[in-house]
Amino acid sequence: MRMVDLIEKKRNGNSLTKEEISYIIKNYTADQIPDYQMSALLMAIFYEDMTDEEIVALTMAMVQSGEQIDLSSIEGIKVDKHSTGGVGDTTTLVLAPLVASVGVPVAKMSGRGLGYTGGTLDKLEAIPGFKIELSEEDFIRIVNESKVAVIGQSGNLAPADKKLYALRDVTATVDSIPLIASSIMSKKIAAGADGIVLDVTTGDGAFMKNIEDAIRLAQTMVRIGKLANRQTMAVISDMSQPLGEAIGNSLEVIEAIETLQGRGPADLLEMCYALGSQMVVLAKQADDLDEARSKLEEALQTGAALDKFKEMVQNQGGDTTVIDHPDQLLSAKYTVELPAKKAGVVTKIVANEIGVAAMMLGAGRQTKEDAIDHAVGLKLRKKVGDSVQEGDSLVSIYSNTKAIEEVKELLYENITIGETAKEPVLIHKIITE
Ligand code: URA
Ligand code: CA
Repeated sequence: MRMVDLIEKKRNGNSLTKEEISYIIKNYTADQIPDYQMSALLMAIFYEDMTDEEIVALTMAMVQSGEQIDLSSIEGIKVDKHSTGGVGDTTTLVLAPLVASVGVPVAKMSGRGLGYTGGTLDKLEAIPGFKIELSEEDFIRIVNESKVAVIGQSGNLAPADKKLYALRDVTATVDSIPLIASSIMSKKIAAGADGIVLDVTTGDGAFMKNIEDAIRLAQTMVRIGKLANRQTMAVISDMSQPLGEAIGNSLEVIEAIETLQGRGPADLLEMCYALGSQMVVLAKQADDLDEARSKLEEALQTGAALDKFKEMVQNQGGDTTVIDHPDQLLSAKYTVELPAKKAGVVTKIVANEIGVAAMMLGAGRQTKEDAIDHAVGLKLRKKVGDSVQEGDSLVSIYSNTKAIEEVKELLYENITIGETAKEPVLIHKIITE
């Protein structure tokens, strides 16, 4: 086989065979195919697309490029959840202990944030002492004993994806549905869960800017999951405005605690119930979504979910006193309010730009090497549909520097006050096949 022939084949709109795809991934991972040839192939895929068979072959070749986690020694049906990325998306922090508290084993590997999207690991590290690295033995033991652990992805899961993603990032080939679907699913399949619940975000804060593309991505991933013998379903959710109110690491930990205490933002809680019910049903801890939801609501009301969060923090070396005293996590030097310039109704909050504003404060990374400031971030005081008076605070800005003029300007540009707002939609669609 010659790479140049395979590039030409795809460029001419033909499908690659499983053997050809496996040859490409094996040799690219082993540095036997140069980046310039891989770049040309990626661009051909971007324009010519891939069939379901090709996408499955690509996914499985990437799974086989590295280690696969064996979770079979954990009792019960293990269910993972993955979001395609958002702004202020605090769900995992709430969801993991919530579903674990009704008996679903959650052995979760999460990632870090990049650009305007946040990452669960960075948020967890805002809790003093919290360890995101555990040995595989400890990880499995803790999930067996306590039903939940959230850790960083182990070094060698889908190394082909790591290499390919870095190349896509600099060759304008990230936003291709077959490439995103295979990238996400290769990591989820290698991570070993029996069931996978996908949160496919759509809107300004997401990879998929429109619903049609989000549906196609979701359907593709669900089909890949099923062909790999994993029960898989997807929720198409809205990320045109940030989820919840807090954006930033410590602030989101506080938001998660408040949500587990039953006093969190309504949209975040609803998202957790919607995704959580699907996880509970996939794990066969309830017969249908209604029963699953009642169990989750009960776990929240009785405090079982909050206790589970405390247990998780304790098991992973974190300081549990912050759960009873979340204000201890508020350590930014300055809190500045952003007053509304006129009265009206909030009609738009552009999620990705709000994410950029939080990143500029230091809550996120511009490059992978950047350090994060856990203390800083934003708290939205108004969301789409809320009415405001002139001078009301739109956002509280938590900063460690006084120089925040640019941040304020960006926030003003991306929060629109008008006359009437469309009712925000949280969940557009559920995809099961
Ligand atoms: N997230 C991933 O892991 N991969 C992609 O390609 C896009 C989002
Ligand atoms: Ca949030």
